[in-house]
Amino acid sequence: MTDKLRGRDLLSLADLTSAEVRLVLDTAREQKAAWAAGHREQPLAGRAVALVFEKPSVRTRVSFEVACARLGATPVVLSGPDSAFSRGETVADTARVLERYCDAIVLRTFEQAKVAEVAEVASVPVVNSLSDDHHPCQGLADLLTIEEHLGTLAGRTLAYVGDGNNMAHTYLHGGALTAMDVRIATPPGFEPSAGVVAEAAEIAASTGSTITFTTDAREAVAGADVVATDTWASMGQESEHAARLAAFAPYRVDPALMELAAPGAIFLHCLPAHRGEEVTDEVIDGPSSVVFDEAENRLHAQKALLTLLLA
Ligand code: CP
Ligand code: NVA
Repeated sequence: MTDKLRGRDLLSLADLTSAEVRLVLDTAREQKAAWAAGHREQPLAGRAVALVFEKPSVRTRVSFEVACARLGATPVVLSGPDSAFSRGETVADTARVLERYCDAIVLRTFEQAKVAEVAEVASVPVVNSLSDDHHPCQGLADLLTIEEHLGTLAGRTLAYVGDGNNMAHTYLHGGALTAMDVRIATPPGFEPSAGVVAEAAEIAASTGSTITFTTDAREAVAGADVVATDTWASMGQESEHAARLAAFAPYRVDPALMELAAPGAIFLHCLPAHRGEEVTDEVIDGPSSVVFDEAENRLHAQKALLTLLLA
């Protein structure tokens, strides 16, 4: 096991090089196959991982808890009203306490700056398990899923249709790092952040990835190998949901849109899906959809990540 990632933080996929993404994906594939073959090594026996949730979660919480259990580590969940950062203590003080008990801190919160502050203060690895700006653990699982289904990442075209949110940002970084061609289609006014676009462009220039932006969902999806979408109103934006419906309606992934993709294209959604909004039942339940493989791969990608950060 290489120690290249030991002790590192993961605040966004831009914290990783292309080679490091490759290492995580290869480790995940190896561990997934080894588990299926009955191997039960526990490289993190005796370790503890704090899992802090300031937003709801099903997949992230369960996949990280199970990942810890399979690796031999103890997951310590702090969520909702018991969340570590909810009692008025400074973020820095709480981080300094958590690192005295736990070997890593996994944090789901609102502001990216909070994840960055915890990472700055804590000497143990800090992993962003979703912020308003990034969802790198989901990104690793999605890359693993694309590679499993399509065999390769470099040169594949990924079309993301919908809000220019944390998932759009994650696909920009992840696609650029793996030399994919990334197309982003958003309604006017809902584009990805300029800062992330600039970061992705810089990465893309070194990998040969291309990145294009449009307001036309059909243009983005035409000939794409991967079609991805996400909720039209993320956690924290619930009050905007009704007002967004009209603007986002042309970006619904329905059979007519999916039909424009390349033969054999796959459909991704990080879930939870809002059926009838960003995706129709026909697509998410249809033959192109790999959303439950994608959800399963959260477990495998995070097992690999924790192993590389801590073992
Ligand atoms: N995809 C994802 O992160 O799901 P949860 O919000 O349920 O964790
Ligand atoms: N963009 C969504 C992703 C949920 C996993 C959100 O932030 O709510």
